[in-house]
Amino acid sequence: MGTGKWSRALVTGASSGIGKAFAEALARQGTDLVVVARDEARLGELAARLEHDAGVGVEVIGADLTVVEDLARVAARTAAGTDPCDLVVNNAGLGVSGSFVDAGHEAAMAQVDLNVRALVRLTHAALSRMRTSGEGGILNVSSTAGFFPSPGGAVYSASKAFVINFGLGVAEELRMQDSAVRICTLCPGFTRTEFQARGGFVTDGIPGFLWHDADIVVREALTALGTGRTLCVPGVHNRVGAMAAQAVPRTVQARLIAGMSRGFRA
Ligand SMILES: NC(=O)c1ccc[n+]([C@@H]2O[C@H](COP(=O)([O-])OP(=O)(O)OC[C@H]3O[C@@H](n4cnc5c(N)ncnc54)[C@H](OP(=O)(O)O)[C@@H]3O)[C@@H](O)[C@H]2O)c1
Repeated sequence: MGTGKWSRALVTGASSGIGKAFAEALARQGTDLVVVARDEARLGELAARLEHDAGVGVEVIGADLTVVEDLARVAARTAAGTDPCDLVVNNAGLGVSGSFVDAGHEAAMAQVDLNVRALVRLTHAALSRMRTSGEGGILNVSSTAGFFPSPGGAVYSASKAFVINFGLGVAEELRMQDSAVRICTLCPGFTRTEFQARGGFVTDGIPGFLWHDADIVVREALTALGTGRTLCVPGVHNRVGAMAAQAVPRTVQARLIAGMSRGFRA
């Protein structure tokens, strides 16, 4: 199997939202899948549907990527030379709203462990194998939140800033090594998924035109990776926001974001 551009893709956080949309889009292209998340029942339903509808092979791995042993297990699968994954989508992510101190250290560390630690570990596992085969692709999911500090989501935006700088740095290393392996960092803006509800983010007042469906985000990301781009920010409004952020001092950005967030809750 694996008749698409990519033979087999490992997608983390495939049980809902953007990760599920990645799995569906890749299956439609004929790509076999390894889907990872904590909710094995949801992954099982997805796997059965994609195997039936798209005729691809789907391997299910139930894992909590904030748990050391689970992460090691998924890293081993990512690096495996048998039934190798030539595309790895590090999509699983978590945001928790609220002040840093009040949200508690468990919430802060869960975001760091999932958004940063697991992503770095799995990127390393993927690249170790891809360097040997000389080909492959990695999509790391960041956020437009990574372009500026975010009071009320300080750990989340900082974790996503890490993902951007990490991805661009590794991409340049690969370019300097004349590697054919590609790495692209995806920075979605507001996307209709379970993310906001899970993290307690209040989205009342955010205009509809600022929202994307996950399918559109995924389509842009796969095109960006396929054409060798190292950064993908879907949506003109998000690209303008990301560029504007570069012209404004971070101290001012923090004030502006705090003000805008109050507006959304109004
Ligand atoms: N939605 C947005 O507006 C938006 C904007 C910018 C960036 N993003 C980023 O997009 C990515 C996907 O989020 P989404 O919007 O699709 O949210 P979502 O619908 O909440 O999906 C998150 C996925 O991550 C998995 N996950 C959560 N904790 C996990 C853990 N400890 N171990 C393994 N898997 C875990 C969840 O599955 P289980 O619960 O089954 O484990 C789920 O499949 C995230 O990195 C997020 O930061 C989202």
